[in-house]
Order: sequence, then structure tokens, then C-alpha cells
Amino acid sequence: MGTHDRGDDRYFLGDALSAGPDGLYLDGVAIAPLARAMGTPLYVYGRQTLARRFAEMRAALAGIGRPFEIRFAMKSNRFGPVLDLVRAERDVKVDCCSPREVERALAHGFAAEELSLTAGMLSPRDLATVVTTGVRPNLDTFSVLKRWAEVLDKAGVEGEGRRIGLRINPEIAIGWGSEPKLAYGNSKFGFDQERVPEAAAFARSLGLTVVEVHMHLGWGLQRSGAAVVREVFGKLAGFARALETVEVVNVGGGLCWKHRAEDEPLPLSLWAEVVGEALAELGPGVKVACEPGTYITAASGILVVEVNTVEPRKSGTWVGVDAGHAVNVFAAHYGIPMAFIPVTDPLAEASEVVNVGGNINEANDVFARDRAMPKVAEGDLLALWPAGGYGSSMASDHCLRGQPGEVLVG
Ligand SMILES: Cc1ncc(COP(=O)(O)O)c(C=O)c1O
Repeated sequence: MGTHDRGDDRYFLGDALSAGPDGLYLDGVAIAPLARAMGTPLYVYGRQTLARRFAEMRAALAGIGRPFEIRFAMKSNRFGPVLDLVRAERDVKVDCCSPREVERALAHGFAAEELSLTAGMLSPRDLATVVTTGVRPNLDTFSVLKRWAEVLDKAGVEGEGRRIGLRINPEIAIGWGSEPKLAYGNSKFGFDQERVPEAAAFARSLGLTVVEVHMHLGWGLQRSGAAVVREVFGKLAGFARALETVEVVNVGGGLCWKHRAEDEPLPLSLWAEVVGEALAELGPGVKVACEPGTYITAASGILVVEVNTVEPRKSGTWVGVDAGHAVNVFAAHYGIPMAFIPVTDPLAEASEVVNVGGNINEANDVFARDRAMPKVAEGDLLALWPAGGYGSSMASDHCLRGQPGEVLVG
């Protein structure tokens, strides 16, 4: 479809969306009749685009020249048909972030060996559940190392079952993560780097074998951060070298799509190049693992909403829609905007500046302020994009507005 200039809101509609006689299409499927039939708010995901993302990721990782593993970050999208699609990819594994995600992945046909658990602040109840599944965790506190070893001891688990990963704090703010709400560096995640040798020694003393070092840098990685990404993953590789039992270096997720006018996402190819460089000194058998969520799902999906209100006020014209931050938290919680695409006329030019409000009784439930948009009328459909990741999986039933619909098409 190409690049469109809507006032100061320049964005790229990417390879999943197109315009045709019925307006907007996702993976060749017309959105207006689908949304009218299924109702709104409705998340729509494109099967072909999701599959293409895995293929792109595989090709980029193959270029690194060492064994690799893609672990889909299930937290980004756990819709059953999407998980079935991931399963059908065969070589793609899943990273879970809670015991219930593990259980759902198992229910969708993944074997325990195809799953990892990367979660923080695990409770005794969580650990008691995880041990029954046989899934290997990436752990990030001294507290949980001790408690995990105790749970394994109690269950009589030996050998392979005592393999773990260590999650390490990246200690930098990068990508969208320059404010505490978005930052992973120096946040609640991961061992402090200076204490990694101590953590590894402690794990060893408990009879645990550290086979993986893990570092998720955060999200929204930008091209401008490529050198920092290389440097930090270089440190991660250093930890892998120092701990002789490490078989896998896990570089997490972080690849993104353009949400803000100023975004210039780190391209997949450049990411793979810097990951390859950072790990270059490691033995050829050391595997690189990654946990993409956003890259796979975000631009593969839209959220379709209906306009129910167009009202001029002193504070500007308000466009009201039938979804709010209970359906999609991006704008209200993270301050990360999405594009609004008129479903019947996706190529319409921006002609007015409006605010877009959601239907939740909270003042922060605003999708956009002072946004240049094509003219919309009550009853129109709008597609929010990129919306395939961290949309429905973060939805709540606040104000008893109910859950959004979801459908996989193509
Ligand atoms: C441990 C871990 N891995 C992977 C991801 C996926 O990241 P992204 O959606 O940026 O690819 C996240 C997201 O928060 C995460 O916390």
C-alpha cells in the first residue's frame, strides 16, 4: 500500500493491509463485512502475515551461522487459533510468562521441551505447578533459585530436570524504554550484572545447571540503538563464556513496528547482524535463542472499532469509539499511539484534527489527542494498527465492557 502522509502523522501500512473495492483488507480479507458480521470491537489477525514473520525471522537468524531457536512470546497473543498456527510452524517454540501460559501452550500441543518459562516474582504455588510440567525456567532472583531447588528436591527431580537459565538485567534504557513504565534496564527484571558470577555459583551449589543466559532489552528497539544492542549482547556473550555450562544465549524480544512519527525501528536484518557480531567469540555449538512477540504479532493484526460519537467541544472535536483502554492499553497505559485507518476508505487524506476517546469511565481513556485524521462520521468503522500484539492478551473487563472479539483470517 505504501507510505501515506496524514498531516504530521506519517506512517507505513506495511505488507498485511491493502485497499480495494470493499475498503480495507487484511491478508486479502475485506474487513468491513467481517466486522459487521462479527461485531466490534474486533481484533483481526492475518494468518499469512503471521507465517511470513516467522519465515523472515528464521531467514535472518540463519544468517548468523550458528544454531538458533525462535520462542514465540505467548504473552503478546495467546488467541487459540494463533497458537495453533505457531504450532503448525513445527520448529517454533514458545516462551511463557506464567504457569497458566505453560498450561495453555501444552494444551495446544507443545511438548514441555518446546517451552520455556521466563517469569518474575514466582510464588511457591507457581513453582509447585511448573515442576509438574517439566518446563525449564529462566530465573532471576537468589530467592527463586533457592526455592526452585527446594521444589525440585522435594519432587526428586535430578539431572536434566535441574537445568535452568539465568535472566540478567540489561542495565540500559533503550527503545521505547526511557521512562520507568516502559524500561527494562535497572527495572525489576534480572540479576544485576555484577552478581551474575555469584548467582551462577549459588545455582551450582544447589545442584542446578545453568544452561542459558537470558537478556530481554525491552521493547521498541530503534535503529539508532544498534551499537548499544551489540555492546550489551557482547556482555551477555561474556557471561556465557564465563559460565562453562551455557548452551544457549537468549537475546529476548524487542523488535518493533512504527507507532510514532519519530520511530525508526531496528530492522530485523541489522538486529541479526549485531546479534551475530556480539556472539561471534562463542563456540559454534552455542545456540542463539530469541523470544519475539511484537515482531510476529503487532503488524499482523488490527483492532476494528465503530465510531459512535462525533462531538465538537471547547477541548476540540471528540470522536468516540466502542472500545477503550480495557480493550487496548497502548495509548492510555504506555503512551504509545496507533494509526487510525478508515475501514471503508483507507486511503482517505487527513482533513481534520480530533481527539479519539474510548468508552471507559476513566479520564485517561483517550486513544489520541490532536490527531490529524480523515473526516469520520458516527457509524463508521476504524481500524487501529499495529494492534495484533499485547491487545487482547492485555484486555480486561473494566466497567463490564466485555471482552473484544478475535478472529484469524486468510
Ligand atoms: C522475557 C520477555 N521475552 C520476550 C518478550 C517479547 O518482547 P517483544 O514483544 O518486544 O518482542 C517480552 C516482552 O515483554 C519479555 O518480557
